Amino acid sequence: MALRLRLEDVSFSYPLGGREEAPAISGVSMSIEPGDVLCLAGANGSGKSTLAQVCTGLLSPASGALYYGDRRIQGRSSLLQFRRSAGLLFQNPEDQLFADTVEKDIAFGPRNHGLRGEELARRVRDAAALVGLSLDDLASRSPFSLSGGEQRRAALAGVLALEPEVLVLDEPFIGLDYEGRTGLAEALMRYHDERGASIVIVTHDLSYAWSLATRFGLISEGRLENVMTSDELLAGDADLASLGMQLPQWGALARELMQAGIAVDDPADPSSLAGAMAKRKEADGAGD
Ligand SMILES: Nc1ncnc2c1ncn2[C@@H]1O[C@H](COP(=O)(O)OP(=O)(O)O)[C@@H](O)[C@H]1O
Ligand SMILES: [Mg+2]
Repeated sequence: MALRLRLEDVSFSYPLGGREEAPAISGVSMSIEPGDVLCLAGANGSGKSTLAQVCTGLLSPASGALYYGDRRIQGRSSLLQFRRSAGLLFQNPEDQLFADTVEKDIAFGPRNHGLRGEELARRVRDAAALVGLSLDDLASRSPFSLSGGEQRRAALAGVLALEPEVLVLDEPFIGLDYEGRTGLAEALMRYHDERGASIVIVTHDLSYAWSLATRFGLISEGRLENVMTSDELLAGDADLASLGMQLPQWGALARELMQAGIAVDDPADPSSLAGAMAKRKEADGAGD
């Protein structure tokens, strides 16, 4: 079970050589509660990947503080300990698959953590099962012979085999087709439900995380501008255009319907939208 992860006024800049530096995130304060599914959304270059690395202890804040539970992450030993509680799936993680078999690839992380024997085998088995890959079929196959969606899930299994309490994913849905995205989303939610893990999904496209996230953190130019629910996003509580984002198409349609006084139960569900559109047609007809 995860603990609360808290960022307090965190900033980070990349050194550019000499005294120059490029500010990437500035003054970010937020909490990720145990079991949260938080979507961090922002345009390209807004600082999402930097924030993902700060949240997993791969980059240390230049200023501000990071807390996991009651403990401040500060200094090498607490950082190393925290890194074992947090896992990051990098953007395009399949570029980092390298082993000659799927099984060895999934085992790489936990092996690096010193696991061997039955515990290592169990981690690999469990992680493969969580992402819906059958080791019976795939264990001895090259990861490069898998489909794109399977490669992404194999890479995720490698992170899950570390059994992180806080799992951060950088653009996990990018480049996948519908089936790949659905398979990945199912794997994520299975892990979330079984382990009580907190999940952070970093994305530039709100539609991918819409039905998974409990809250959306909107990032612009390195700042966390707002944290809100999907209902608040739909109600137009944030000026998404000014943050370089837009509602998913179905969300824009749902907003129109709601503004016309027609309830939409689940905007991301096509049949719910179709039902609401039929109601509007009826209402329009009755008004003639
Ligand atoms: N290694 C780096 N060196 C210098 N600047 C960087 C580096 N990585 C990212 N940046 C800069 O930091 C800012 C935030 O980048 P990033 O966190 O990658 O944003 P995002 O993931 O939202 O696209 C951008 O202005 C980017 O150019
Ligand atoms: Mg990025």
